[in-house]
Amino acid sequence: MDMHTYQASAPAKVILCGEHAVVYGYPAIAVPVSDVRVTATFHPEQTGYLLVDLPDVRESWRWPPGPTGHPLALLIRETLAYLGRAHLSGRLVVRSQIPIGGGMGSSAAVATAVVRVLAAATGQTLGPEDVSRLVYRAEEVWHGTPSGIDNTVVAFERPVWFVRGHPPQPFYPARPFTLVIADSGVSAPTREVVLDVRRRWEADRAHYDRLFQAIGQVVRRVREALEAGDIETVGPLLNENQQLLEEIGVSSPLLERLIKAARDAGALGAKLAGAGRGGNVIALVVPEDATRVADAMRRSGATRTFVTVVQQQVGQEQTLKA
Ligand code: PMV
Repeated sequence: MDMHTYQASAPAKVILCGEHAVVYGYPAIAVPVSDVRVTATFHPEQTGYLLVDLPDVRESWRWPPGPTGHPLALLIRETLAYLGRAHLSGRLVVRSQIPIGGGMGSSAAVATAVVRVLAAATGQTLGPEDVSRLVYRAEEVWHGTPSGIDNTVVAFERPVWFVRGHPPQPFYPARPFTLVIADSGVSAPTREVVLDVRRRWEADRAHYDRLFQAIGQVVRRVREALEAGDIETVGPLLNENQQLLEEIGVSSPLLERLIKAARDAGALGAKLAGAGRGGNVIALVVPEDATRVADAMRRSGATRTFVTVVQQQVGQEQTLKA
């Protein structure tokens, strides 16, 4: 009998630029946050069932069947079916460093780590396309009609170019770049902020269409600069994107205080990331300035900060046999 332990992991994600305008058909770029991860560990045991242990959310249950309608229970069933297995006997422990509900793709990362560890436990490896597709199904149960951006960024662990209604497109930056992510500690439901923007757009379409279009231009220039390895150009573009988000009305005094703190501490550029009003701020920095920028944002009210390097290319088999 096989008594190895299997482990797999998956990164968080953050929207680099293009949020909100993306809802109106313009492109957005999301990037993996490889330094903030979910880890799934499988311990084979001869119990005859799978014990799913989620200590971070204080959940523990047996599969089959698992809690009715639970996205992870469904994911386990679909993944094992895809791997040609009806059962798995042992303990599955999932640990996450990703804030829940903070726009950092926590549910997609949990699902990705689980799919990968189930594949490893059955002696198989799945490519990112397969992982992404299985994770998308779980995301549908979690979030209704997800855009597909989270599962793609997390499963490919690469920057992704996303236009609504088109398959998300992973791409490579020519040089790595460093981001500081600061949690404002304020939770603002994405759904409500998106709805509020829609109301504003309906009241003055011409104005908001111009703002969304301008964001679309910025996002195109960010991609060009990343693909050219011209990181210095990206900073001012992120600032420009922030200015446009302020005009749309999704920023806040706290977010702007964190952004100013980052810029004053030497960031190349900074903006809110995700839906806005709360959630995260991101700052693009040269690696030497990361700690100073993170400290400055915490002093200005961020509840926590993460530093991450977005790599050119990640050797993506985050699966180890321990
Ligand atoms: O905060 P997040 O990562 O859920 O991003 C929301 C991005 C929006 O453009 C505001 C909404 C959307 O569905 O794209």
